[in-house]
Amino acid sequence: MLAVTGSVAAYKACEILRIFKKQGDSVRVIVSRGGEHFITPLAFSSLGAAKVYTDANEFDVDEKSVSMHLALSRWADCILIAPASADFISKMSCGIADSLLLTTVLASKMPIFIAPCMNENMYLNKITQENISLLTNLGVKIIEPEEGLLADFKPGKGRLPEPESIVKVVSKFFSEEKIFEGKRILVTCGATKEFIDPVRFISNGSSGKMGAQIARIAKEMGANVHLVYGEIKVDLPVVDGYSKVVTTEDMFKEVKNHFNNIDVLIMAAAPADFRPKQVQLKKLQKVEPLSLELEETIDILKTVARDKKEQIVVGFALQTEDLEENAIRKLNEKNMDIVVANSETNIGEDTGSVIFIARDGNRKELNNVSKDQIAKELLLLINDYLNRGGKNG
Ligand SMILES: Cc1cc2nc3c(=O)[nH]c(=O)nc-3n(C[C@H](O)[C@H](O)[C@H](O)COP(=O)(O)O)c2cc1C
Repeated sequence: MLAVTGSVAAYKACEILRIFKKQGDSVRVIVSRGGEHFITPLAFSSLGAAKVYTDANEFDVDEKSVSMHLALSRWADCILIAPASADFISKMSCGIADSLLLTTVLASKMPIFIAPCMNENMYLNKITQENISLLTNLGVKIIEPEEGLLADFKPGKGRLPEPESIVKVVSKFFSEEKIFEGKRILVTCGATKEFIDPVRFISNGSSGKMGAQIARIAKEMGANVHLVYGEIKVDLPVVDGYSKVVTTEDMFKEVKNHFNNIDVLIMAAAPADFRPKQVQLKKLQKVEPLSLELEETIDILKTVARDKKEQIVVGFALQTEDLEENAIRKLNEKNMDIVVANSETNIGEDTGSVIFIARDGNRKELNNVSKDQIAKELLLLINDYLNRGGKNG
């Protein structure tokens, strides 16, 4: 399903349709209310669209008396919105369902691709960026606009990529093997909290971004994903199961419960390492000097990995010094299969630098790349490791 919304780049959707047709795909087109101001439905039917719909069809039923939005959402293997207007993106991110396109998208369980295209200020506006980020976290695939001359001949970011590259992104998604089909992956993310008294706690600044990206991409790669999460500052990705936890002990119990039924454990969470020896039942009063006696919390990774059988165990080692050396020590001490050496500068950021070190000798360094790319590369390395049975070379 190709959907075209109200942007000056709507004409490029004709070429997108032609390329899909040339590949042998059957394409239906929805032209939004705004889209109709820029291009006519006739343009798409005369270029070979199987059927073309507009908001005039919003309250129609198909030949089997099924509402049009449900019929279309079931028919489509995927929905590509190109160009996608700011208006459409905002409405979709709020779940608004007042047009044929919005109701079809809301009813669809299939992959959705969005190619935003608009004036640079509109694109960079925090509202648009937050809507895009919300949709990304919900599993919508965003085809980023390019920088270049915009409609007003001023340079900026917001141009619709060329039709060939848009079609390539969609086709690649379908041709990529679902490498984790049949595999169960447990991912942990976020920070745990250890209470001092009813209102105060010990924790850390983990945002959960890395683990959420790993979970989302593992799901896209075909895995059955369960996410155990503590305090996070990002939206939850759409996966198969969730466990919300508070303390490190809670997280340990959840991981242990699932451990015998999974193929891969990826511990991207930042559990609190210490907790007060005694939790005060009432709010502590100000006294000086105040001393807190702390004890170590359970080492989740070390404890579960000790009894591992076939499971692949992947951990993150955050170090402030001797990054690689300490990460290798942890890999061995904690019986991990792969360790991700991680610096504290990555915390809460959208990008990061890491080193993957696998027990089979594989090593890969990534410098200043997006967490999306780190997640992808890590999952490819895990797949490679699984395929080689963790053997050298
Ligand atoms: C000449 C013109 C060009 C426009 N180009 C864009 C654009 O490129 N991207 C965008 O998001 N909105 C653009 N707009 C605004 C949208 O067309 C408007 O928000 C519309 O309501 C979107 O409707 P839709 O979401 O139903 O397609 C443009 C408006 C005009 C008048």
